[in-house]
Formats: sequence, C-alpha cells, structure tokens
Amino acid sequence: MAQKDVGNKIPIYKLKKTDEVMKYYDDWGQENKYDKDMLDWNYTGPKETTETFIKYQKNKDAKIYDAGCGTGLVGVELKKFGYHNFYGADLSKKLLDLVPSQLYKKLDQVDLNKPIQEENDTFDAVMCVGTFTFGHVKPPALDEFIRITKNKGHICFTINEGIHEEYGFDKKIEQLNNENKWKEIEFFKSDYIASKDVNAWLGLYEVIK
Ligand SMILES: C[S@@+](CC[C@H](N)C(=O)[O-])C[C@H]1O[C@@H](n2cnc3c(N)ncnc32)[C@H](O)[C@@H]1O
Repeated sequence: MAQKDVGNKIPIYKLKKTDEVMKYYDDWGQENKYDKDMLDWNYTGPKETTETFIKYQKNKDAKIYDAGCGTGLVGVELKKFGYHNFYGADLSKKLLDLVPSQLYKKLDQVDLNKPIQEENDTFDAVMCVGTFTFGHVKPPALDEFIRITKNKGHICFTINEGIHEEYGFDKKIEQLNNENKWKEIEFFKSDYIASKDVNAWLGLYEVIK
C-alpha cells in the first residue's frame, strides 16, 4: 500500500537520534508547551486508543504499562473510565516531571529501544501511544511489550502512518501474527493528528502465551 509522505508535517519528524529526540521533548515540556500544542492540534491519540481499549479490558484494576507516557495524557483519558493502575515509562525526564502527581504508581526514565527492566508477565496491558513515530521507538519494542504482558493481556498502540512500512512495523506485525505471539483484535487507520494531515494505524492485540 502506498505510504503518504508525512515526514515534513511536524519538526520533530526530522530527528533521527535518540539523544536529539530526548532534548527536543525536554525543551517541548517547558511551560507545558507540549500539552498546549496537543490541545491546539486536536491530538486524538490518547482518546482514540482509550476508546478502543475499554471495549476489551473490562477490569478497572488492570495493571497498565504506559510506554512513552510523556506528560501522562493516556493516563488522564483512562482515568475518566475508572482505570487507575498505571506504570509510566518515557525517555524525557522533563515530560515525566509534568505527569499529574499521584496519577501513575511509578514513573521511570527509560529508552524503550533497549530491554525493559520489568519481569516477564507483569502487566495486564501495555499502551503505547504516539511513540511509534519518526526517530522514536523501533519495532523490536513489540517483543518486549509481549514479554512483560500476561497471557490474554492487551497491547494497544498507534503507529504513525509515515513509518509503518518504512521502519518495518508492517513486517514485524505480520511476523508476530504468524508466530502466534498475539491475536489481532483491532487494526484500523485512526485520526491521530488529523489537523496536521497525519493519521496513525491503531492496533489492539491480545497476547498469546
Ligand atoms: C508524541 S509523544 C507521546 C506521549 C504520550 N504517550 C501522549 O500520547 O501524549 C512521544 C513520546 O515518546 C517518548 N520517546 C521517544 N523516544 C523514546 C524512547 N527511545 N524511549 C522511550 N520513550 C521515548 C518521548 O519522550 C515522548 O514523550
């Protein structure tokens, strides 16, 4: 399928290296600019993933790993529906410092392109919203998400449409399907940042162990 060229829509899409990405987000967090921009751009990733997730995860106590949690926008959305057991991880210390206090049980500064320091089968779900995008987190992170998720747990994510094929997410998903590591529940093109003409694939998968 032809991939829309969205690489020039937002400045951060030009960055390639993890340390550049970290610095960009650290600066973006100044004076809450990141949250303000997301509001101005009508960024719907957290809302759309939450709406999908709540259709399948009925346990409000579910232990949820928010991979690339940023300022906690996913936790804010999930909390509206009664979920509360959040564990956040992000590269940017500055954004982690902006997560509303008490919203997450634990916040860790991590590089998700490296092995995650969590035991196997720890979480009922992993949410990863806005973090599979240009220069951010690469497809092998999906293996780690599966490893830390319990049998029948859920993995819910967005993949920026501009990198889905370029970074090999399409192939990685096909491999995980073929190896029965997970089962597709939902996979569709979501609005994401429609105001900037950038959409994302939204997936929800059930882990098989
Ligand atoms: C577009 S923001 C999304 C944040 C949040 N999930 C949301 O929906 O608002 C992408 C996030 O990915 C984080 N990030 C980028 N590269 C990362 C990496 N290698 N490891 C962990 N987090 C990373 C950034 O710091 C940023 O918070």
